[in-house]
Amino acid sequence: MAEVVIVPDAARAGVLVAEEIVRLITRRPDAVLGVATGSTPLPVYEALRERVGGVDVSLLRAFALDEYVGIDPDHPESYRNVIRREVVEPLGLDPERVRVPAGALMGIETAGEEYEEAIASAGGIDLQILGIGTDGHIGFNEPGSSFASRTRVKTLTQQTREDNARFFESVDDVPEHCITQGLGTILAARHLVLLAFGAGKAEAVAGAIEGPVTASVPGSAIQLHSHVTVVVDEAAASALRFGDYYRYAWSHKPAWQGL
Ligand code: GLP
Repeated sequence: MAEVVIVPDAARAGVLVAEEIVRLITRRPDAVLGVATGSTPLPVYEALRERVGGVDVSLLRAFALDEYVGIDPDHPESYRNVIRREVVEPLGLDPERVRVPAGALMGIETAGEEYEEAIASAGGIDLQILGIGTDGHIGFNEPGSSFASRTRVKTLTQQTREDNARFFESVDDVPEHCITQGLGTILAARHLVLLAFGAGKAEAVAGAIEGPVTASVPGSAIQLHSHVTVVVDEAAASALRFGDYYRYAWSHKPAWQGL
């Protein structure tokens, strides 16, 4: 079962996850981080920025979850640019060691396979940061995605395009396709850390953690993984049936266990 940690706010979640990432990098300087876009992981990157001063990140490698297909690579909201702006530059990572799926139309047919090969030759992902969409998607794996899927091109739902329209001039400017790590790719990471904040995510979080394991809620795939940490604020936790138990378990957790 996933460990569910209910925190007072997003800043506290950021600190908790950043501390775990620092522990990982300290243990293994060439660790492989799975990074996510969206607003949810930003507090993690911010807390990490405050902590990387004392850690050598020169060998750290990172793979992003997804990218829009056909987006102008210079568009500020291409995930390549978002990862550069929010992760690579502020943390001082080596850009050569950070990859984002290739969303260019030229070569898109083989981009998924090449991305899978790159992850495999890096030795797999040690810790994968995940957000969750209001329709339960993780990465850009929309409802119906196979639990065995690997990195490939998907069509975005209208809901996701509307949710992401805030980053574009209008919903019509949000690309219709994406290239995303599959649910099978995500499940192969050694530790999954899913974050969610706000009441708008409550239903998706409850579905992912406590609902049936179903492709209709792609986030529910995390129930198949043996090492999952879910960090949510009170609002995102509000639809959980077993919230009291999660709080009890967290407050009784032996300190040596870490996340
Ligand atoms: C996008 C990303 C997901 C992210 C989701 C939620 O669709 N592809 O990786 O989890 O949005 O975004 P936010 O964190 O901004 O709510």
